[in-house]
Amino acid sequence: MAEKILVLGSSGQIGTDLVDHLREAYGNDNVIASDLRAPSAERLAQGPFEQLNAMDAQAAFEVIKKHGVTQVYHLVAMLSATAEKMPMKGWDLNMTSLFNFLEMAREKHFKKMYWPSSIAAFGPQTPKENTPQLTVMDPGTVYGISKLAGELWCDYYFKKYGVDTRGLRYPGLISYKTEPGGGTTDYAVDIFHKAVKGEDYSCFLSEDRRLPMMYMPDAIKATVGIMEAPADQVKIRTSYNVGAFSFTPKELSAIIEKEIPGFSTNYDALDSRDQIAAGWPSSIDDREAREHWGWQPDFDLPTMVKDMIKNLSK
Ligand code: SER
Repeated sequence: MAEKILVLGSSGQIGTDLVDHLREAYGNDNVIASDLRAPSAERLAQGPFEQLNAMDAQAAFEVIKKHGVTQVYHLVAMLSATAEKMPMKGWDLNMTSLFNFLEMAREKHFKKMYWPSSIAAFGPQTPKENTPQLTVMDPGTVYGISKLAGELWCDYYFKKYGVDTRGLRYPGLISYKTEPGGGTTDYAVDIFHKAVKGEDYSCFLSEDRRLPMMYMPDAIKATVGIMEAPADQVKIRTSYNVGAFSFTPKELSAIIEKEIPGFSTNYDALDSRDQIAAGWPSSIDDREAREHWGWQPDFDLPTMVKDMIKNLSK
């Protein structure tokens, strides 16, 4: 039977790139894009779209049945900075939307589900350098608490009910097609938009705040990679560490400046996001993902920077 794939959050930063990739691989009609927000006209013409609130269990059930969905990529979440402003709303969105789909999978309405975690699931007591897969996790944000809880629930549904749940702890994600919204790592996308316009950038993180990051093509590779891996290779059902590279705002700015001479970054716009970032790892040990299902990134920092500038300059 052909796979029918539902992507929740298809208009978001990851969803935009993921839908393009999956449609190329599985055929436009086999990938159902879905979001609260209406998509672009171009997207609508490309293949099926369902306007859906993932908090609405009945509406979600109808979409699953209507299309005979076999796999779900659940990319709905309120990110770290926004959820700090509305904690209960963030918790409710992140958890209710997860449970709606875990429950449908438990009832065998579809077979396989991807749900992402994040470096935000770690916290101030977590070892910062080469953060291991299994370690202290004491997240200090609503978003991070929801990600850690969600990871554990995915593992629970796998162990108790045999639901095929798969997940990754994404680092900050850098992409050019769609901007992120409400995250702490968003600076690493914002900075490029300013640089290609010939403007300077006011950064909201301190210049030495080192965070793990990844270029979107690698994030898509990892996401589809874990979903397509044979089930017995996916030995961890909470969520896998995945890494690519790490940098500070100062280092990123210097590399961009090599490509766009005269570009500079100031640190006049520091805000509470800097404190969120202070509780996160600065680099990630992802050996389990590499060993279990063959994860390997393609982009390093300089090749990511060149590719971002080339694409945003178009
Ligand atoms: N990029 C996310 C954020 O900053 C972390 O998963 O909230």
